[in-house]
Amino acid sequence: MMIGDSKKKAAEAAIAEVTDDMLVGLGTGSTAAFAIAGLGRRIREEGLRITAAGTSLATEAAARAAGIPVLAFDDLAAVDLCIDGADEIDPAFRAIKGGGGAMLREKIVASAARRMICIVDASKQVPQLIRPLPIEVLPFAHAFVAREIRALGGEPVARPTLSDQHNLLIDCDFGPIGDPQALARILDMIPGLLGHGLFLSEIDTIYVGDEAGVERHER
Ligand code: A5P
Repeated sequence: MMIGDSKKKAAEAAIAEVTDDMLVGLGTGSTAAFAIAGLGRRIREEGLRITAAGTSLATEAAARAAGIPVLAFDDLAAVDLCIDGADEIDPAFRAIKGGGGAMLREKIVASAARRMICIVDASKQVPQLIRPLPIEVLPFAHAFVAREIRALGGEPVARPTLSDQHNLLIDCDFGPIGDPQALARILDMIPGLLGHGLFLSEIDTIYVGDEAGVERHER
């Protein structure tokens, strides 16, 4: 079985929680893309009435193409339910996001949301967060931020592409992250570091897809 099938199972299970009149936060990435397609199908087939808040320009475009009305990001209001993927997730519902570089908008939408559902295939489940952590950095602060990251024991590697906000995207390899809360607290205080991919308190529910089916876990 392909990993895409597992992602689709998780996404389809999550969109069953969407009901009429919700403002739905739509994540970015290949798993969220299945949720967008599924919601478009429910609008066409069932007449589901929702509005979406996109977490990236690509997601906004995909949602519109699927026939989902999209709220302008400037008008972001209280989101009823956010559905998004992750790159890694540990048993305490702590995740690393930002493989697609969208973690800053993703965190804004997740923070505006009453509930967040994370949709993943089983390969994303890890005992401890370990992959390089994406950060978004104001371009003129890059040398300062890189020095701060090195002082914290991280190895920063800049991506060749900019974020939707035209800022730098830098992957920071900290090795296994023993205390994600402590790391997030320090990163949140570095001037010029606009966002990072540690999602430690936002996720309420996880749908995990694999060959056998899909499992739901509640925090
Ligand atoms: C986008 O910036 C990310 O946070 C994605 O949610 C994450 O990378 C998961 O992507 P896939 O669903 O494509 O694995």
